[in-house]
Amino acid sequence: MPAAIKPPRHVGLIMDGNGRWAKKRLLPRSLGHAEGMKALIALSRHAKELGIEYLTVYALSTENMASRPREELEGLFGLLRQYFGKNLKELHASGARVKIIGDISAFPADIAELLADGEKNSPEGAAFTLCFALNYGGRDEIVRAAQKLASEGGAVTEERFSDALYTAGMPAPDLIIRTGGELRLSNFLLWQAAYAELYFTDVLFPDFGEREFDKAIAEYNKRNRRFGGV
Ligand code: FPP
Repeated sequence: MPAAIKPPRHVGLIMDGNGRWAKKRLLPRSLGHAEGMKALIALSRHAKELGIEYLTVYALSTENMASRPREELEGLFGLLRQYFGKNLKELHASGARVKIIGDISAFPADIAELLADGEKNSPEGAAFTLCFALNYGGRDEIVRAAQKLASEGGAVTEERFSDALYTAGMPAPDLIIRTGGELRLSNFLLWQAAYAELYFTDVLFPDFGEREFDKAIAEYNKRNRRFGGV
């Protein structure tokens, strides 16, 4: 990547297309997700090296959780056990932190525990955070924040609202990437995406490697961000 390229602080990533990647190869969907996890491991290393501070990945939406077949969910739970039981050690050892957004109380108890431990054992003051959106929905997050503020009382301000979201303390995403060809946000970071630059690609997530990621960052660098100004 050319030296003049400035990394965004926070990148959101909608990892779509695992199922189609597997179908094209006559493989079960679960293998597409397993390849997706490999792609994610490589990309999170790369994002850290580029100086990106936060990478938030949409790993399971509230809608996926409610409507994917049990067998597919079990496959994803297996990957979570594998990642948080094993791969996370390398991320922690590299000085990076993990964060979870979403309602993990709906997960099997052993996974909820692994996820909580992953957050708790993260190094202090890490320069890179890999944030997993799990059983996450932007509308659900907004309703929870509204309920919290209603129960606390007092004036409702943008600042208080932001602080009541799962992402409290994190900068808003500068860039949101969606792989897999669909042109929508699908309930991802709805409040936080207000001024995010959007990048869509037909590449299916398991094929979305470092070079594809660099293309998205280069495109982001060409955008003129005005945040409503002139
Ligand atoms: C959407 O593709 C992807 C998901 C629902 C799961 C994404 C999960 C991963 C990439 C693995 C994440 C890593 C861990 C540790 C859990 P899709 O299945 O909807 O693809 P399709 O649109 O082609 O059917």
